[in-house]
Amino acid sequence: MTTTTLSEALSAARRSYASNNPNSLKAYEQATESLPGGGTRSSIFIHPFPLFIERGDGSEIIDVDGHKYLDFVSDFTSGIYGKTNPVLKKAIIEGLDNGLQLGAHTLPESSLSSELCSRFPSMHLIRFANSGTEANILAISTGLHYTGRKKVVVFEGGYHGSVLSHFGEDGGDLKVPYDFVVCPYNDITGTNSIIRKYAEEIGVIIVEPMLGAGGCIPGNPEFLQSLRELSTEIGAVLIFDEVQTARLSIGGRQKILGITPDMTTLGKFFGGGFAFGAFGGKKAIMSLFDARQPNSISHGGTFNNSPLTMIAGLTAVQHILTEENLRNLNELGDSLRENLNKVFDEEELPFKMTGLGSINQLHYTSPSQKREGLDLFFFCLLDRGYWIAQRGLVSLNFAMTNKDVKGFENAVIEAARGVKSSL
Ligand SMILES: Cc1ncc(COP(=O)(O)O)c(C=O)c1O
Repeated sequence: MTTTTLSEALSAARRSYASNNPNSLKAYEQATESLPGGGTRSSIFIHPFPLFIERGDGSEIIDVDGHKYLDFVSDFTSGIYGKTNPVLKKAIIEGLDNGLQLGAHTLPESSLSSELCSRFPSMHLIRFANSGTEANILAISTGLHYTGRKKVVVFEGGYHGSVLSHFGEDGGDLKVPYDFVVCPYNDITGTNSIIRKYAEEIGVIIVEPMLGAGGCIPGNPEFLQSLRELSTEIGAVLIFDEVQTARLSIGGRQKILGITPDMTTLGKFFGGGFAFGAFGGKKAIMSLFDARQPNSISHGGTFNNSPLTMIAGLTAVQHILTEENLRNLNELGDSLRENLNKVFDEEELPFKMTGLGSINQLHYTSPSQKREGLDLFFFCLLDRGYWIAQRGLVSLNFAMTNKDVKGFENAVIEAARGVKSSL
């Protein structure tokens, strides 16, 4: 690196990015005419402008300027199958032949529900929705209805969907108007004292077993267990948002830890590549939706059981998200994280990787210029042909080989050395 400061190095990286990606820049400028900020999903925006991706193949994505990148974003954990999984593709094409929009109960829908209930210890009954956000809104509303209470405990750094994020002052996000009580994540004493203050008003405690969008910070088992005990004590419904962590084992993180919440929410990959959400839990709670009962809760949703989603999800669960495949992918992620952190420590590189299994985040650890350090690192990796989220998320998928992951590990180390040399 010939530039002397981080800011100069970043400016040079941005200039080079802009000149290397003229078609993306043109597409972006055109998109801004009808989409605010040129897009419809804030999490995928890239400063100074995003790349436009034309297609994907295996674990690669190809942009409109013809560059190929190995995809270590994996659509923010939902793209666990890679871009062109043949088993899924075959099932989806056959599903198309059965017809779209049947608008009725189907067999794949009940098979998928039964597969998911058998996997997640807390899910005796389940309902489908169209996104993780929707699943969480439904689960929270169900828990409040069940308890007849108003307050919802969430955690600092928690993300349960586009209108359910709790990132503190930086947030600037829209929020559904629940009566939230925000507690400190992984802090048993702090959380206990806040919850006890409002004990009789709290209907729901919702928590990610690992903060996902909040930086891949694993929940301490003792902390999660304390929430289990506290919820029971105060009569609140404990919800585990396993929208991301469900892929850490065949029954999510709850199965690994042996902690059973009252309700669980799922999303992302269980739709086999299509929009998906699900919420489920104890019979006593979920039976509220049983249309055979008087005064049951009505829960509509045109695409809740979209036939193609149900077929793709069922195929994925039965043939791809097997215990062995998940174990292998998560072990690959664990060793990537351990190897990288070892080198970061040994060479005093200003980076750290946190996470669990195949879901991880790279953090820039130098106290100053945090955003700039991570941005420069992102551009260094792009130059080497690797695609991560600009905020540092690294998520593995089944289309990757061990060699791909080793290549990524080496590229991360080189990029981290590059950033250090510009300090
Ligand atoms: C833990 C968690 N919950 C909920 C959601 C929201 O899911 P969706 O984007 O499908 O609405 C996400 C999305 O990233 C998530 O990570």
